Amino acid sequence: MDVLVIGGAGYIGSHCVRQLVAAGHRPVVMDNLVFGHRSAVSPEIPFYEADLGDPAAVGEILRKESIELVMHFAAFAYVGESVTEPRKYYENNFVATLRLLEAMLDNGVKKFVFSSTCATYGEPERLPIVESLPQAPINPYGQTKLDVENCLKAFAHAYGLSFAAFRYFNAAGAAEDGSIGEDHSPETHLIPLVIDAATGRREPIKIFGTDYDTPDGTCLRDYVHVDDLSRAHIAAFEKLEAPGVGLFYNLGTGRPNSVREIIKAVEAVTGLKVPVVEDVRRAGDPPALYADSSKAQKELGWEIKFTEVKDIIATAWRWHEANPNGFGD
Ligand code: UFG
Repeated sequence: MDVLVIGGAGYIGSHCVRQLVAAGHRPVVMDNLVFGHRSAVSPEIPFYEADLGDPAAVGEILRKESIELVMHFAAFAYVGESVTEPRKYYENNFVATLRLLEAMLDNGVKKFVFSSTCATYGEPERLPIVESLPQAPINPYGQTKLDVENCLKAFAHAYGLSFAAFRYFNAAGAAEDGSIGEDHSPETHLIPLVIDAATGRREPIKIFGTDYDTPDGTCLRDYVHVDDLSRAHIAAFEKLEAPGVGLFYNLGTGRPNSVREIIKAVEAVTGLKVPVVEDVRRAGDPPALYADSSKAQKELGWEIKFTEVKDIIATAWRWHEANPNGFGD
C-alpha cells in the first residue's frame, strides 16, 4: 500500500517507516522538521517538508503519490507544556489534524491511522486499563487526543472514514540494528534520561516522587518497544478496507515497571552506576498506568516481541552508546 506517514521523521514515525518497508508497503514521509530529524529517514524514501495543517501541500502529496492510507504521528507531546501553553496543543494536535482530515476527504483518501495515548484515560479507575474504561484526561495534551478520537468517530459515521486509533503507553527503545533511536529536544522521557545520567552526559536522574502508593513508592508505567507499536499499526491496515470502520486499541505490554526498576535495569544493561536524586512528585503524574492490550492481540494478531523491559532498554542503550548526540542536528 502507498502510505503517507506524517511525522515520519519523529521518534515513533521513523520506526514505523522502517517497519512499513519491512512489511512490503511504500511509505512516503511528510514532516515539518520542528521535532523530526531528516537523517532518521532513509534517503530512498520520498520525503516532503510540509505541515499537516497546510491542506494545499497535503492535497498535492496525496495526489502525486497516489496515497491510500495516512498515518499521523505529528503531535506535540509535552504534557507539562500543554498545561502552560494549551493554545499550541489545540492548534497543532486538534485544529491542524482537522485540516489534515479535510484534505484527505477532499482527495478521496479515507483510511487513517492515528497515534492516541493512554493520557486520554486520565487517572484510571481500574488497572490494567481496558479500552472501555471512561476517558477523562487531566491535561490539555490528553484532551486534544481525545477530541481527535471523537472527531474520528463522527467522520467515520458521516463520511465513511475508516480509522484505527492506538492508545500508546510508554514508547521506548530503538531499532534493533542500532540505526535510529530516540532523540527529543528537550528530552523528558525516563529511559533516555537515566541512560544519560549513567554515562555522565547529564546530571543525576531525579526520581519524581517516592511516596506513591506503589510497591516501591515510585510511579509504575508500561514501557512498550517502539517497533512493537509500529507492527500493531500495520496489522490494522486490512481491517480498514471496509468504509466507516472505527477501531481503538491500547498498546502496552501489560507489565508495569517502577521508576526504581527502570534505573536498576539500566544499571544491569549498561554495567554503569546511575546517580540518583529523590525529588518531589511531578504535577499530573498518575501513580500507575498499564495496559490490558488483549484486544489488539486478539483482533490484530499483535505479538509483543519485547516483553522484558531489559531487552527494550538494551536497544535504547545500543543507540545512545553509538550516538551520544542523537542525530547530531
Ligand atoms: N520520571 C522521573 N524522572 C524523570 C523523568 C520521568 O522520575 O526525570 C518518571 C515520571 O514521573 C513517570 C515515569 O518516570 O513516573 C515516566 O515518565 P516519562 O516522562 O518518561 O513518561 P510519562 O509516563 O510521563 O509520559 C508518557 C508519554 C506521554 C503521555 C503519557 C501518558 O511520554 O506522551 O505517558 O501518561 F502523555
